[in-house]
Amino acid sequence: MITLIKNIQELLQVRETSIDKVSGSEMAILPSIKNAFLIIKDNLIEDFGSMENLPKINADKIIDATGKVILPTWCDSHTHIVYAGNREQEFVDRINGLTYEEIANRGGGILNSAKKLNETSEEEIYEQSKIRLEEVMHLGTGAVEIKSGYGLTVEGELKMLRVIKKLAENYPIAIKATFLGAHAFPTHCKENKGGYIDEIITKMIPEIAQNKLAEYIDVFCESGYFSVEETEKIMQAGIDFGLRPKIHVNQFNSIGGIQAGVKFNALSVDHLEVMNPDDIQALKNTETMPVALPSCSYFLSIPYTPAREMIKAGLPLALATDFNPGSTPSGNMNFVVATACIKMKMTPEEAINAATINGAYAMGLSETHGSITKGKKANLILTKPISSYYQIPYAFGSNLIESVFLEGTILE
Ligand code: NIG
Ligand code: FE
Repeated sequence: MITLIKNIQELLQVRETSIDKVSGSEMAILPSIKNAFLIIKDNLIEDFGSMENLPKINADKIIDATGKVILPTWCDSHTHIVYAGNREQEFVDRINGLTYEEIANRGGGILNSAKKLNETSEEEIYEQSKIRLEEVMHLGTGAVEIKSGYGLTVEGELKMLRVIKKLAENYPIAIKATFLGAHAFPTHCKENKGGYIDEIITKMIPEIAQNKLAEYIDVFCESGYFSVEETEKIMQAGIDFGLRPKIHVNQFNSIGGIQAGVKFNALSVDHLEVMNPDDIQALKNTETMPVALPSCSYFLSIPYTPAREMIKAGLPLALATDFNPGSTPSGNMNFVVATACIKMKMTPEEAINAATINGAYAMGLSETHGSITKGKKANLILTKPISSYYQIPYAFGSNLIESVFLEGTILE
């Protein structure tokens, strides 16, 4: 099956040769072709270029994209979209003055979601989660990482990871699974934290690795959650079973989580709302991708990741949603890109790089996703007619997407 898309006003994120990520000042460069064509063969990008060089081909389908922009689909490298129920009441409690930390300290927060998760059947969790997955696919996400972490019991964590696996089998979107057993200490281990860490290390990790239920291991490294020492112990246990770390750090406090992540060659360190100069320094010349989650900052009214300082220091930066019931009940990458521009002062070019190729890197998917490159997946966003791609962050509340292609097929 060959599809030709012609007269594309502008084709964005065009990379002739595959790159794995962009860093520092390169982030400001978003290569594009104006008045372009793109050819899709089956599920892959076959060819692209300027309309002047359109080859003679027999296409099965021709789409005229006059006035419209095409870019690769968003790569959302940090989500918790598998969960049960919601936490609307905590949202209202926060409006009325409680903080996220106060809610967690009285047994709400992650423990509230863990209780609901363990009380809900696997089938029901799948049904609830697939609605969110379908929603984000229609919002232009073509690859997504999903974490466990609301089970906090052997059975609960395995249940979540099986749901993630089933979503990956049933939907045409790349899904990467991350084991986040170390998301919080469950109620029954409040007085026996070491006991829970032992359970993670001796029961959960081996079982998950044996059944290939996750590729990555995550820890919520934060005051009141997992210390740096505990985080290192859990990362090492994961690495021993082939799980690469991707960890939650510096959301509320800078306690050394970034340095620990770098030491264990984490694929990414995520959140980074609170960053000191040493934290930025520690990330230089490493393979660890910093990931910012601006819609979490927005929803909790906490600081935004200091993107400008990080980019100035030569670092790469990825953007993701953090879609979860507590701190970010939204999986809209278009909003993330807009918020990064509006609140973090990233340019549209930097934000699009961060939400495509750098997001792909933070999921180990840069070879197949995140740019318009021959041989990569034909995962595309086709916009409605727009004056320029600046509209994407500028018209922040509008849905400018006309259609989404996943593996060469338009999502109905
Ligand atoms: O990334 N910070 C830790 N975990 C999630 C929130 C979890 C929750 O509140 O349910 C996050 O923000
Ligand atoms: Fe998170």
